[in-house]
Amino acid sequence: MESALDYWSAKALLEWQVELGATEALCDEPVDRYALEQAAPKPKPGAAPAAPPKPKEVDPVDAARKAAKGAASLSALRDAMENFSHCELKHGARNLVFCDGQAGSRVMIIGEAPGRDEDLQGKPFVGRAGQLLDRMLEAIGLSRSENVYITNVLPWRPPQNRDPLPTEIAMMTPFLERHVALAEPEVLVLMGNISCQAMLGKRGITRLRGQWDQAWGKPTIPMFHPAYLLRQPLQKRLAWADLLELKARLGSLT
Ligand code: URA
Repeated sequence: MESALDYWSAKALLEWQVELGATEALCDEPVDRYALEQAAPKPKPGAAPAAPPKPKEVDPVDAARKAAKGAASLSALRDAMENFSHCELKHGARNLVFCDGQAGSRVMIIGEAPGRDEDLQGKPFVGRAGQLLDRMLEAIGLSRSENVYITNVLPWRPPQNRDPLPTEIAMMTPFLERHVALAEPEVLVLMGNISCQAMLGKRGITRLRGQWDQAWGKPTIPMFHPAYLLRQPLQKRLAWADLLELKARLGSLT
């Protein structure tokens, strides 16, 4: 571009800028930044301020997997569950219900979720259903004080004993899987539909009961839940058949 300045005027201007401290030329043309500012679009009056960046969303199932994997013992697993804050049920429950009975037993029973009594005492199966469970186990020579270990799919009581939600089951299943691995039972007894859903991915206890299956590398037998047997006492004869099946299996395992 041809300059409107003569040589001497341009030189004088350049020397003046050097005197002011300019050390390098950034562009060929001067930029009027006041004019630029005025041309920039202004926020409309009343427009909402820009939203702050969203915090990164945590996937609760992923968080549960990581927490469960890091637990090297049953007590570490209990602590990891106590510290897990993604399950809403925790906030409405009085206690974490982790286990009862003898860790390392050949038989591990998996129930659904704590009810009122379990929530109060922090132990699984201590209400009416639990008393029936104890009588059922006793009939085949088992007891939680000697040779059975017990836990639930969910460690916190759902409000009004409602059924656990699929999202709650999904986020607590990594803990259950780790629980089974650390307790090292030979066989698993799944009480009712919720445990079948969590561990076998199947529902339909009337069809599933009494049929051996595999979950997480262990032989697994679904049975009617004792709470269901309290409501449907005629079904106890089928539960008795399943208990005998369990007893026979234990006799045949070393
Ligand atoms: N029903 C369950 O499934 N678990 C309990 O601990 C109590 C009742």
